[in-house]
Amino acid sequence: MASDNLIDGRAIADQIHEETRRHVEALKAHGTPPGLVFVRVGEDPASRVYVGMKEKACDRLGIQSQTRILPEDTTEKDLLKLIGELNADPTLHGILVQAPLPPQINEANIFAAVSANKDVDGFHPLNVGKLLLGDPNGFVPCTPAGVHELIIRSGVHTSGAEVVILGRGNIVGKPMAAILCQKSEHANATVTLCHSRSTDIGEHCRRADILIAAMGVPEFVKANMVKPGAVVIDVGVNRIPDPEAKNGSRLVGDVDFADVQPIAGRITPNPGGVGPMTIAMLLRNTVRAAARANGLNLETPES
Ligand code: GUN
Repeated sequence: MASDNLIDGRAIADQIHEETRRHVEALKAHGTPPGLVFVRVGEDPASRVYVGMKEKACDRLGIQSQTRILPEDTTEKDLLKLIGELNADPTLHGILVQAPLPPQINEANIFAAVSANKDVDGFHPLNVGKLLLGDPNGFVPCTPAGVHELIIRSGVHTSGAEVVILGRGNIVGKPMAAILCQKSEHANATVTLCHSRSTDIGEHCRRADILIAAMGVPEFVKANMVKPGAVVIDVGVNRIPDPEAKNGSRLVGDVDFADVQPIAGRITPNPGGVGPMTIAMLLRNTVRAAARANGLNLETPES
């Protein structure tokens, strides 16, 4: 299998981690080490894995993190009370409440309760609005921000490009569209957002110079939906049954990689594409939150 068209998310995430590590050192030297808190409600297996990976990444970069684990039957009122306490703690610069939350809790209420200044997920309505308005002072959700960095650092041109995004979720699809339609460098794309009620998705996909799959349907994108030479980004993480696997299942993306890779111009592997970038952007957002809280400007031209 030729692999020269792969977009190496691990290598690009490592570059960003190095930039973030320098910023962590600068914050520590200033006497204000960055602090991040994870909140997990219940024992959703995927959430346990994701939060565990984020904790380890914090350790590697020297970011102080803690995790609050609440029982599955936690009320919205109790979770709001905890968020109020975390908002008021000056040693915590970032708060991440892992989704999905149990059904008795309204996610939108929770995301709106996190201080917008500590909203390293970029889910607070103020930050969502800033993204849409093109205000660079908000926080951008980590997965679409990571996809954007992959595109930029792979030298993929977006200006005037046809971008087709599959999936209109608040975590990936909608903010991805908002990022790429901005009138700004590395954006300026013509964006089509497809979803479950779109008619003839294949027709839209075949027009795409950049195809971003984030709808959560295992191996949905096939070669006959991709324009030869297109850039294909796979955000999907889907567990499917596999009798030959040790635990009876395996993870696949939203793109049928074996089918699509030969005709794509560039393509993200999965795993090893978007996943590492989500974590890299979370840590970058955390360091930015800590810098802003302390009136520091860490941004240098290369970061
Ligand atoms: N669940 C899936 N993706 C995310 C994410 O980026 N942030 C949070 N908080 N929960 C998620």
